[in-house]
Amino acid sequence: MLFKDISPLLADADAFARVVAAMAALAEDVDLVAGVEARGFVVAAPAAHAAGRGFVALRKAGKLPGRTLRASYALEYATAELEVRPDVVPAGARVLLVDDVLATGGTLVAGASLLESCGAQVVRVAVLLEIAALGGRAQLAGREVHALLQA
Ligand code: PRP
Repeated sequence: MLFKDISPLLADADAFARVVAAMAALAEDVDLVAGVEARGFVVAAPAAHAAGRGFVALRKAGKLPGRTLRASYALEYATAELEVRPDVVPAGARVLLVDDVLATGGTLVAGASLLESCGAQVVRVAVLLEIAALGGRAQLAGREVHALLQA
């Protein structure tokens, strides 16, 4: 397993502010910013706020009340599921999808699929850190993908 921890970067106020500003700049032409639980929230929610956009939580399965849509994805030794409340994602909404890390890409493929199941348009995908050796970008082929940092 290849593990990268962004905690030191987030603990640095100047670096955190630069990350949020860079993410917010990618949200200027969207309606909503969606973030993936849990660490994606740390980047996506402040970026949404800074850009003056609403925030949509893509949550791990079983956390959201009401009617949800669900997508499965593969982890290294298991599968996981993400859920969204479709009532907070209007059909036709333009969405920036944000996570902290792009590794194998499974999480963001599932997240994009969920948003599109709601009828939204995933305009672009943005991550703080891309672990390029794990090939996640190839899973997102055809999508606009931004990585603020690469490892
Ligand atoms: C990590 C990370 C991304 C995902 C990337 O989340 O925060 O969401 O893995 O991996 P992938 O590109 O191979 O799918 P994790 O599932 O560890 O959950 P957490 O944010 O709740 O810690």
